[in-house]
Amino acid sequence: MGLLDGKRGIVFGIANDRSYAWFITQELVAHGAQCCFTHLPDDKGKMERRCRQAIEELGITDPWLMPCDATKDEDLDAVFAKLKQDFGSIDFVIHSIAFADRQFLQLDYFHKTTRQAWTQALDVSAYTLLAMGQRVANLELMPKGGSMLAMSYYGGEKVCPGYNVMGIAKAALEHTARYLAYELGKKAIRVNTISGGPLRTLAASAVGGISEMFEHMERKSAMRRNITGEEVGRTAVYLVSDLSTGVTGENIHVDAGFSIVGL
Ligand SMILES: NC(=O)c1ccc[n+]([C@@H]2O[C@H](COP(=O)([O-])OP(=O)(O)OC[C@H]3O[C@@H](n4cnc5c(N)ncnc54)[C@H](O)[C@@H]3O)[C@@H](O)[C@H]2O)c1
Repeated sequence: MGLLDGKRGIVFGIANDRSYAWFITQELVAHGAQCCFTHLPDDKGKMERRCRQAIEELGITDPWLMPCDATKDEDLDAVFAKLKQDFGSIDFVIHSIAFADRQFLQLDYFHKTTRQAWTQALDVSAYTLLAMGQRVANLELMPKGGSMLAMSYYGGEKVCPGYNVMGIAKAALEHTARYLAYELGKKAIRVNTISGGPLRTLAASAVGGISEMFEHMERKSAMRRNITGEEVGRTAVYLVSDLSTGVTGENIHVDAGFSIVGL
């Protein structure tokens, strides 16, 4: 018996086999879940190929996969309508997407952030969680309740030099999750975030000072090491599973105890 047997949901954010979403899917599937996926659309189809290849590496052939730019209402409408049409209901949504113009993710660049870069970062990285929750509620996609989960980072709580506007977006994401948790709680839909330690992904490579973040983790975290994608994936299993039915509006740090240390 798997912890997630009989549960089905959708994962946003697999770019390749280093993505947090990929590790989360690996662990969800290992515990019995069925996953649907989206990829960021692009003219040449490169994103779809990479996403499909990464999914297939997990042993999932012929995946349920749709294009979705989460800043476009029509893309989100199409994805959630298709989920409703194909399955009637789902049990979980994994939000593992973020974007900020890398030009502003350099050390000492926060004060140069333009209005457009700020708005874009908050739209892609935070508003989209609300947009997903809105569709889940409107379409009554989780009639028996369910779990929504988004990926955050410590830079949303404290200043991590170079993380800059993405830190503002993570603060907004974490609090969006709490407000959503409050309103959707009446429908037994839980909304939580995981604050994951740094992981070498495409998105992370855009952050100036990311190498220092890995070094800090090794020197200063309670466990004196970095974390793995699998560790975040297993926490996602907990949050999606019925082991956590009383947990909502939480931000769980999977950071080897980095955030508890004040030095
Ligand atoms: N890597 C880290 O160190 C780290 C640490 C903590 C939290 N996170 C968070 O984890 C999540 C996943 O990032 P990752 O590190 O796995 O990097 P990644 O580059 O593998 O994934 C980011 C994903 O966001 C998607 N995306 C960007 N703009 C989008 C849009 N408009 N519509 C739909 N999808 C869009 C990309 O296609 C990609 O799949 C992000 O929220 C990120 O901030 C990452």
